[in-house]
Amino acid sequence: MAKISGVIELPGDKSISHRAALFSALIDEPSRFSNFNYNRDCRATLHCLQKLGIEWQVMTGELQIRGRPLKQWQEPDTALNAENSGTTTRLISALLSHLPFKTQLVGDASLSGRPMKRIIDPLSQMGARIKAKQNNYLPLNFHPVSEMNGMHYTLPIASAQVKSAILLAGLFARGKTFVIENTPSRDHTERLLQLPAELQNDGSKTIVSSVDRAIPNFSMRIPGDFSSAAFFIAAALLLPRSELRIDNVSLNPTRTGLLFVLQRMGVQFDIEPIRNEPEPAGRLIVRSSALQNVAIEPSMVPNIIDEIPIMCIIASQSEGSFVLHGAEELRFKESDRIKAMADNLRAVGIEVEEYEDGLAINGPQTLTGGKINTYGDHRIAMAFAVADLLATDKIVLDDPDCVDVSFPDFWSILKQIVV
Ligand code: S3P
Repeated sequence: MAKISGVIELPGDKSISHRAALFSALIDEPSRFSNFNYNRDCRATLHCLQKLGIEWQVMTGELQIRGRPLKQWQEPDTALNAENSGTTTRLISALLSHLPFKTQLVGDASLSGRPMKRIIDPLSQMGARIKAKQNNYLPLNFHPVSEMNGMHYTLPIASAQVKSAILLAGLFARGKTFVIENTPSRDHTERLLQLPAELQNDGSKTIVSSVDRAIPNFSMRIPGDFSSAAFFIAAALLLPRSELRIDNVSLNPTRTGLLFVLQRMGVQFDIEPIRNEPEPAGRLIVRSSALQNVAIEPSMVPNIIDEIPIMCIIASQSEGSFVLHGAEELRFKESDRIKAMADNLRAVGIEVEEYEDGLAINGPQTLTGGKINTYGDHRIAMAFAVADLLATDKIVLDDPDCVDVSFPDFWSILKQIVV
């Protein structure tokens, strides 16, 4: 069997790259980002901004953006296309709501089937005028309004995209906006915008945004994407005699829930934090390890949400029973990831129990060869690419190129570390 060996550094975190582009587009000075992720999703954000009159260029590998105040953004001559990207859609919607001209936001078939009521409702409560198909789906049409107002909003679902949309809208609204989050989700927006946040006695967090908050220039080297690293971490853990070092990887605790779960499963990592501001990053060393499955508490789900597909592959190779509940949000991702994982695991010989809000797997089981329907979902493709390294026969993906959505270099880096 092959092993994993090497030292890698990964392209910048996708969530941070989107935010770097969107937030720096709002300030009237140049910002610079190295290790920006030019995947399909983040390119969609850049192209939307370009249509709105924001100038950016890539010089010696560095993204340089010259922003301008929101009221000076330009009217696009066609619809804005978010392609496959939920983050582009939910975050830019907050800004489009404030513009003094009409805009339309469209996306691909997958994005057009994903729920948008979760942002339409709160933005409308703040005064936005958004028309959507069945009040829930793309295309979204934004109509100008004279003013939007701040509000108090308790998030009904743990979603960093919804949280970020309201906080962003709050930066241009009258009065203050308070977002109350009961289950922590990724905190890049509040960190990068330096928004005041307070932990309450009941464990909830209140974040405040308001028009008098200046948007900081946080030009930076973007830490490597932990969600991309997760696939290689899994491969290194599961393939015998492996050792992998990942440099400059995001160690933001609202993203690295997978490390916490794996530590409970018996893994020891070498973790060396290198910097903390504005985003934690450092070095991680992973070695092959024996793993014992655990049950995942629903409160952990938001911090491992994008890692659940690869977590299922890990679970299938670990001792004991893996049980996941409270993950119904997975049904609304780039594909219905509960169904996609359950059906595809069965296609490669793994018995799975599927629940409305999760799944259960008893391990270890033998991964056989088989055909995978990725549903065009990058994380399903990368999870089964790792499964292929462990399978008794070939696992064939219907659409290997869909990894481009988050990680165009996935196949070349995988090839480099499999020895
Ligand atoms: C993201 C938040 C998460 C995550 C997505 C990126 C973000 O979505 O699944 O890949 O950048 O804010 P939700 O906020 O919908 O859970």
